Amino acid sequence: MKTYLITGGAGFIGSNFIQYIFNKSREKILVINIDKLTYAGNLDNLRSVESLENYKFIKGDICDAEILQEIFENFDIDCIVNFAAESHVDRSIEDPSIFIKTNILGTQTLLDISKKYWKINDDFREGKKFIQISTDEVYGSLGKEGYFTEKTSIDPHSPYSASKASADLIVKSYYDTYKMPINITRCSNNYGPYQFPEKLIPLIINNCLNERYIPVYGDGKNIRDWLHVEDHCRAIDLVINKGVIGEVYNIGGNNEKENVQIVKYIISVLKNKGLSVSEELIRYVEDRKGHDRRYAIDSTKIKENLGFKPSLSFEDGMLKTLEWYLNNKMWLDKVGSGDYMNYYEKFYNKR
Ligand code: NAD
Ligand code: TYD
Repeated sequence: MKTYLITGGAGFIGSNFIQYIFNKSREKILVINIDKLTYAGNLDNLRSVESLENYKFIKGDICDAEILQEIFENFDIDCIVNFAAESHVDRSIEDPSIFIKTNILGTQTLLDISKKYWKINDDFREGKKFIQISTDEVYGSLGKEGYFTEKTSIDPHSPYSASKASADLIVKSYYDTYKMPINITRCSNNYGPYQFPEKLIPLIINNCLNERYIPVYGDGKNIRDWLHVEDHCRAIDLVINKGVIGEVYNIGGNNEKENVQIVKYIISVLKNKGLSVSEELIRYVEDRKGHDRRYAIDSTKIKENLGFKPSLSFEDGMLKTLEWYLNNKMWLDKVGSGDYMNYYEKFYNKR
């Protein structure tokens, strides 16, 4: 029986990952999910697993050493997958402080507690692993040419990416200093079910369904590389089971798209499905401060060393995603209302 401590498991990628590992091996695992339930955390994402005997949810903050200590006292944790983070670039520009606290101090608190329980003299107990879920944004921005490899220098531009880069360096330092068994994964932009509608793809879908303008920052030609969340989960699972200790793995979709291309694509698919939406909803608005122009990932290492390659094409992944949001309109209406609408209206009124 392998015991996982998943942090931030009520968020977008964390909740997909918990469902993924239960689908893969229902009986042989115990999953403890610690989540602070910020605006981005939602227990509705985990309805399919909440009644399983080998799943346990704990509401808590990764900055809280006492609660983490209690978890390690009660469970012999084998693998930590650290998804917990403040994850939205625009919010980090408005107010960086919580990003520094959760993303940097929270990660260091988790590392310290796991070191305390996993280290015996100079060695770590067999079979333990700390997986830091990071992002390609730590590498900064590319021009028209080139790709990020694991050797690319870290050069973050937003408070969000700077906090993730800081956490990566602290995780690496625990490997370099204590030989702590770690891996760091750096993935490109994810899309798929349960993504909070402040992020580009669910925002476009939500605004189309509610006939709201779709704000496109700057000239709309910024490029991101997109990967379906299911493929990201599979890559993380490979890193957990086969990743060489101490290594960083980039994970990409080989799907570079301009933002405005994504907006137009979603509008056209929804139109084909009979919805009355049009490109007239597009509004070019003031650009994001420090907006990275292009992200593109070289995934050679994870492909050649761990055998990972994305299984869903962008078209199939998008179709699946759009169908999920159309079939789960109640989920979208619930998370995309209340506090979020206050944030959204205030944010866009300023632009
Ligand atoms: P998300 O914002 O949807 O979810 C974050 C989760 O963490 C939420 O459930 C929130 O309640 C929880 N959380 C926040 N602060 C916490 C704290 N102090 N203690 C415990 N829980 C806390 O984010 P996501 O998109 O699922 O991203 C998950 C991870 O993947 C993040 O570390 C992010 O940097 C990384 N990542 C995301 C993407 C992407 O495209 N979304 C791409 C690459 C990497
Ligand atoms: P986002 O989903 O916030 O992810 P990230 O900044 O982590 O890549 O944004 C993706 C891209 O879409 C980014 O270039 C900013 C742009 N964007 C818009 O043009 N309009 C929007 O309303 C949002 C949320 C993002």
